[in-house]
Amino acid sequence: MNKFPYSKISAGLNDPDLRVSIAGLRLKNPVIAASGTFGYGKEYRGLLDIAALGGICTKGLTLNPRPGNEGTRLHETPSGLLNSIGLENPGIKVFIEKELPALRELGPAVIANLSGSSIEEYAQGAALLNSSSIDMIELNISCPNVKAGGMAFGLDPDTAYSVVRQVRRSAEDKPLMVKLSPNAPDLPGVAKSCVAAGADALSLVNTFKAMAIDVKKRKPVFENISAGLSGPAIRPIALRMVWELKEAVPVPIIGIGGIASAEDALEFLLAGAAAVQVGSATFAHPPVMNEIVAGIEDYMRQYGFLEIGELDLRKNPGT
Ligand SMILES: Cc1cc2nc3c(=O)[nH]c(=O)nc-3n(C[C@H](O)[C@H](O)[C@H](O)COP(=O)(O)O)c2cc1C
Repeated sequence: MNKFPYSKISAGLNDPDLRVSIAGLRLKNPVIAASGTFGYGKEYRGLLDIAALGGICTKGLTLNPRPGNEGTRLHETPSGLLNSIGLENPGIKVFIEKELPALRELGPAVIANLSGSSIEEYAQGAALLNSSSIDMIELNISCPNVKAGGMAFGLDPDTAYSVVRQVRRSAEDKPLMVKLSPNAPDLPGVAKSCVAAGADALSLVNTFKAMAIDVKKRKPVFENISAGLSGPAIRPIALRMVWELKEAVPVPIIGIGGIASAEDALEFLLAGAAAVQVGSATFAHPPVMNEIVAGIEDYMRQYGFLEIGELDLRKNPGT
């Protein structure tokens, strides 16, 4: 059996090329720090080789500063993590002035995660980011729409379309990646709406709506009752969603959800993801993203793949 079925020349002579291009943005490899789990990068200085990452998604940014939620913000569950941070951030202007210069210096592509509670707020935030030095916007549409009774924008294809369309207009110079909520009842419908409204790429998943109860206190752990579930517990569901959306939309898909090893990341890349994001795993083991990059490279070398795109198993099915 040929151990190197996809090697273009002879196996071992060619180094795998880990670079990927997403909506015109070149990343040195497909491993990106997920929003809300990597601060603005500097928090992790000395804990891993930050320059070796493909990209960094910032903590969710809003037009105006937000203090975040009261009470418990993080709670561990079996193979998972619940969070209710509430988008604590200094506001986009302060981010651009105080955080962005140092973040740029770190080396990886800078992806600004944009959040908001109304279409107008999203649009103004997008316009500010458009005139900054960020490389890409990741639009978080899992935020509650205050004017529509608090239902998240990303749950419905029509509201998703409206917010993506507006942000696309307000930030016409930047590549736009839209981050989908796995809580949407019709995820392919929302994905198609986002692409129709101008999304250049999609990232998924954000956290799953979940909750925990403190049995001793006999009350919910979180003030908002529900919180977002992340970590290995969600990975198989996230993987299935990436697999399905790959068939539904023509744009690059960035896989997120419980990735904690190179093998986990490879599952998403084999499912057709153009890149991956790693979130909760970094809390437990900060160098994990460096190890994932090395593990992907080893795998490519072992199986004779030369480019990340060749991993998609629909292009190169296993035997
Ligand atoms: C503490 C925490 C904060 C997060 N904050 C944000 C955020 O501000 N914006 C966003 O789009 N996603 C946010 N997320 C979601 C992650 O970026 C990611 O989509 C999710 O955690 C699933 O990936 P993981 O299982 O690798 O953590 C947050 C996740 C965690 C755990």
